[in-house]
Amino acid sequence: MRRVLAGALATSVVAGLVAIAQVGSGAAAADDPVVVVNSTFEDGTAQGWAPRGGETLSVSADAAHSGTRGLAVSGRTQNWEGPTLDLLDEVDKGTRYELSVWVRLPAGQAPTQARLSVERRTGGTPSYDQVVGTTDVTADAWVNLKGSYTLATDVEFLTAYVELTSTTGALHVDDFTLSYTPLPPIQTDIPAVKDVLGEHFDAVGAAVEPAQLLGNHGQLLARHFNSITPGNQLKWDATEPTEGAFRFTDADTLVNWAKANGMAVRGHTLVWHQQTPAWVFKDAAGADMTATPENKALLLARLEAHIRAVVGRYGADIGTWDVVNEVIDENQADGLRRSRWFEITGLDYLRTAFRVAREVAPGAVLVINDYNTNVPAKRDKLYDLVARLRSEGVPVDAVGHQMHVNVQWPSVAETEAMITKFAPLGVDQQITEMDVSIYTDNSQSYPTPPREVLLEQGYRYRDLFEVFERHAASISSVTLWGLADDNTWLDSFPVTRKDHPLLFDTRLQAKDAYWGVVDPSRIGGPTTTTTTTTTTTTTTTTTTTEPPPATCAVSYDIAGQWQNGFQGSVRITNRGTAPLTAWTLTWHYGNGQRITQLWNGTFRQSGPEVSVGNAAWNPVIPAGGSTSFGFLGSWTGTNTKPTAFTLNGLACRLG
Ligand code: XIL
Repeated sequence: MRRVLAGALATSVVAGLVAIAQVGSGAAAADDPVVVVNSTFEDGTAQGWAPRGGETLSVSADAAHSGTRGLAVSGRTQNWEGPTLDLLDEVDKGTRYELSVWVRLPAGQAPTQARLSVERRTGGTPSYDQVVGTTDVTADAWVNLKGSYTLATDVEFLTAYVELTSTTGALHVDDFTLSYTPLPPIQTDIPAVKDVLGEHFDAVGAAVEPAQLLGNHGQLLARHFNSITPGNQLKWDATEPTEGAFRFTDADTLVNWAKANGMAVRGHTLVWHQQTPAWVFKDAAGADMTATPENKALLLARLEAHIRAVVGRYGADIGTWDVVNEVIDENQADGLRRSRWFEITGLDYLRTAFRVAREVAPGAVLVINDYNTNVPAKRDKLYDLVARLRSEGVPVDAVGHQMHVNVQWPSVAETEAMITKFAPLGVDQQITEMDVSIYTDNSQSYPTPPREVLLEQGYRYRDLFEVFERHAASISSVTLWGLADDNTWLDSFPVTRKDHPLLFDTRLQAKDAYWGVVDPSRIGGPTTTTTTTTTTTTTTTTTTTEPPPATCAVSYDIAGQWQNGFQGSVRITNRGTAPLTAWTLTWHYGNGQRITQLWNGTFRQSGPEVSVGNAAWNPVIPAGGSTSFGFLGSWTGTNTKPTAFTLNGLACRLG
């Protein structure tokens, strides 16, 4: 049961929702969050907040972030102590909530770190889920800890709490909110990804977390995919956090759901240099292992015991295992990553892992999985390792290409070479973790993704899937690393920013990326957005259909410039949904430039106005494709590049 605590604000938003339901336009839904809890402390009480331990909570003017009061926390004697709020009656399983709280240290206190977490208990066993990881806090400014949380399991206890992770100092907190944004229904009038791709691949999957099996997420997953990969639940830190003490609850949840829905499971992953607990690499005396024969024997024995337990638990329910993950380092002469595994056992950890996995799951497809396998140097080192292991009789059945790529990288040719390289080995190949970041470098960040970038992403999905389909005889499965843009690891990797790399948007609706995979002729269709404005007395709902954005992009470059002369080149990209079958590009020169000769097109110039049409042999620019022409010109004084271009009468963007 959800109880609304936020008074007038929440009530009015709920009223807005009713109006939306009446509009009933299918794709439409409110994007306004519903505030379930809003702790301002303005009434002078702690509003249900309590100490986790023996510390003291008091409402104080010194602790006000907004208004005149906030919550002051003092007398902490343990780092884990801090203010906590019971959320058991507020949170519904499967709904994605946003949690937000402001934190500041009292005047004069040294900077430290704070964290926002949820504690849940099932059958008396507590679990601690981080909502916002360790974040710097000071006495100088308020810091907003903000993150999302979805409860995936039944619980008898659920709280949110704030702690200072490395000191017992005091803190101030204020303006805590718990809110959620209602999701529209999933679309049921569009093709299932698994039906369209099922013609080419045995399995079409998504990596998921247990919370994504519930509600709309579970419906979307079951509708479009026929395979899942547990995103974290089969990794060593999840399954064997301490030696011999196996934990399978979360993995079991995923595997059982897959079985119940007739879906395959990719087991990810048995051996990796990340998400492996420290104990694995401690020697018999508890010190960090050095490369000795005893430690090698101990580590291989641990590896064998781990694989026997994890693979053995699932038997035929998991038909494919990423036995080893990311073992290549193309910067090493031998191509082998200097992980703890390699340092202590050499290649034997690979041999042991595949041998034991085959023994325990004789029917499973055993995969060596890696990222950047399109990069020629890395691809070749991986090829050499797979060839070597297979020639020794190590049962490597398949190569997994993660395919964490972006809207501009890698090229189609490089992706194709990645697949064809492995064909002579006769191994199966799988696309295991695909996502297409909207960012091409670490400094970019969009508050909302520009439509043209989403279109570019649609074309990338189209082009890369075209390669996979052409080589479907070599590729048994394709898996995306996530279900929808509301939950992607790229939100915090390689930097923290909102990314949108998947086929469905944050409201679980199909994107251009989806159409790129399913039916490229529909990339660039109109998008529908619904805006709801609510006051205490009236609710206005407006549904707008945005036309597709500029359908062309132009880049104009000066390739070389000398006294009075220059050479230019222009590239036109068709960002529309249909091919252009005859094109004319026009622009205006501001500094008296004159074109004297032009190739790959025909030109006319009248004063400053230039018009370039296609040549006889290049009239067509396919949807998502480009064409280029070059020219020689004259100039005096300055040679400023034009910034406005029109293609067949419509304005283009630059780029
Ligand atoms: C990622 C998960 O998605 C995150 O939730 C986790 O915090 C880190 O690992 N390559 C892999 C996957 O092989 O295991 C990684 O998964 C993403 C990169």
